[in-house]
Amino acid sequence: MTYSATAILPFLVPLGLVLFSTIRQQRSIQRIPGPPPSSWLLGNMLQLFLPPYGYYDDIWRKTYGTVYRFQGCFGRDRLMISDPLALQHILNSGEFEFAPIFDTLFRWLFGERNMAVLKGEEHRNLRTAWNAAFTAGAVRQYQPILEKVAQGISEKLDPSDSPAIDICPLISSATVGSTTEVVFGCAVDDLGAEFVESNSNIMASSASQSSAQILIDEFGGLLPSWLFRRTIYLPTKASQALRTHVELASREGWRLVHEKMDAAKQGLDGGDDVYSMLCEYICAFTNKSLRPEDIVAQTSVMMIGGSDTTAYTLVWALVELAKNPELQDSLRAEIHGRPRTSRGDVAYDSMPLLNATIKESLRMYPVRPWTYRVATKDTFIPLSQSILSTNGERLSQIQVKKGQLVTLGFASYQKLESRWGEDSGQFNPGRWLESRVPQSAAIGPYANLLAFSGGSHTCVGWRLAVLEMQVILSELIDKFAFSLPVEESIEPRYMTNLMPTNADGQKRAAFCVKRVL
Ligand code: HEM
Ligand SMILES: *[C@@H]1O[C@H](CO)[C@@H](O)[C@H](O)[C@H]1NC(C)=O
Ligand SMILES: *[C@@H]1O[C@H](CO)[C@@H](O)[C@H](O)[C@H]1NC(C)=O
Repeated sequence: MTYSATAILPFLVPLGLVLFSTIRQQRSIQRIPGPPPSSWLLGNMLQLFLPPYGYYDDIWRKTYGTVYRFQGCFGRDRLMISDPLALQHILNSGEFEFAPIFDTLFRWLFGERNMAVLKGEEHRNLRTAWNAAFTAGAVRQYQPILEKVAQGISEKLDPSDSPAIDICPLISSATVGSTTEVVFGCAVDDLGAEFVESNSNIMASSASQSSAQILIDEFGGLLPSWLFRRTIYLPTKASQALRTHVELASREGWRLVHEKMDAAKQGLDGGDDVYSMLCEYICAFTNKSLRPEDIVAQTSVMMIGGSDTTAYTLVWALVELAKNPELQDSLRAEIHGRPRTSRGDVAYDSMPLLNATIKESLRMYPVRPWTYRVATKDTFIPLSQSILSTNGERLSQIQVKKGQLVTLGFASYQKLESRWGEDSGQFNPGRWLESRVPQSAAIGPYANLLAFSGGSHTCVGWRLAVLEMQVILSELIDKFAFSLPVEESIEPRYMTNLMPTNADGQKRAAFCVKRVL
């Protein structure tokens, strides 16, 4: 008896604390309107996270406004926020930090010291160094590498009207290829085969969504984070695979960094890739704000963070171009006109329709449709448009308690009619050309979009991603015409990323492809 009481005590205390803070948090936001939960166990989670993608979020945003309260698992209230001022405040004020759900997942996938989970000063220092390798000037140097990779896709793409071709594997291997060339300065084949294989297994297995998974995530979020993180040491196949992956990434990372540090120390030109540049940075500055191990620790997050994200956004652009042949023809005409810089390089930034198509794809299909933050203290979130509370009071700000989990509705924000116009639900690159998009209240790093997030954890690779999409889309539309087969559809499905799937929910984007050049 006594024995079992002592055994459960370590669990009761944290659970008691969770209960206490939950009640405190709930009370503060209970007057925010929102949909009724469909069950106590799963709240509104299945409606939001399982297909059809975005259906309920659209309805609830239109019914309840730019902040609504929905229920997570076990009756725990959450907020979905799409108000631009609120999002800007949460991302930039320093009063919110990365939330346990993604924090733990990212530690498992990418290791304990990856930049997404670092905080404060440590994160700032790392990003200062890292940003230097992703400036507009630095990214422009990668253009020839990206063009070579893009030509590789064309060479492998075998035009076929029927049967339709699944474009996903080709595009994914191209984006993995450009990440490794640009970041590590080598071809995929030069990385250890074990690491490459583990990488694609991890990407495939982390892309899932089911009610069981939602429950596990939520339950994990209830545990103290140090305890939740330890569950990676459970003797299951999945946790074994994750641990092996992180070890392989570290081994591969050290091999690359040793090579590049040696070259930098001898003053040799190690190359223009990100890792070489950072190693040269370490050798040039002796203030130790960046250490070799800090570079190594980013190997997995670089591989995974930069690949499927860019690949899927490209697939969504192709889907919309296939649906709209006129748009596709106009874009092809622009690409055939191929403006050049004075040095003779293709000037992708001088192609307005290409620009607009990419922006519109990021707007309609943000591969990370939402993310989470947690309040680090009791605070207020300001709103650009007041909302009506359930007892009829106008709220121009929202009071939240320390520990409140907030969902940042990037996808929701990117569909706001007040911001993007009446046709915000339609794919229309024209909105960017007619300057109908508001330029005020800058938010996010690119085009007032939040597809790359914002604030201190803004996507480090966003400029690279944009150029990569410009280059690959130009190459493909230049040489091929895409249309959709009648017998198959391509639907977005939330699988941690917004993945293109067929009617059975399998990852697949089948196109009829004709060569035009
Ligand atoms: C269309 C392509 C891409 C999209 C939509 C995208 C989206 C995002 C988003 C939304 C975040 C922030 C998540 C959050 O705040 O919770 C993020 C962070 C990050 N992304 Fe990207 N990304 C893309 C491409 C890339 C590329 C090409 C790279 C690397 C070469 C990359 C590397 C990273 C890293 C390392 C972080 C963590 C940054 C930090 O926490 O300091 N991403 N990305
Ligand atoms: C270290 O050197 C870099 C490059 O000069 C500089 O930007 C950074 O502020 C320095 N950090 C410290 C802690 O002195
Ligand atoms: C393309 O978009 C970028 C970023 O918004 C902008 O600076 C550039 O002027 C645009 N180019 C054209 C031709 O619209």
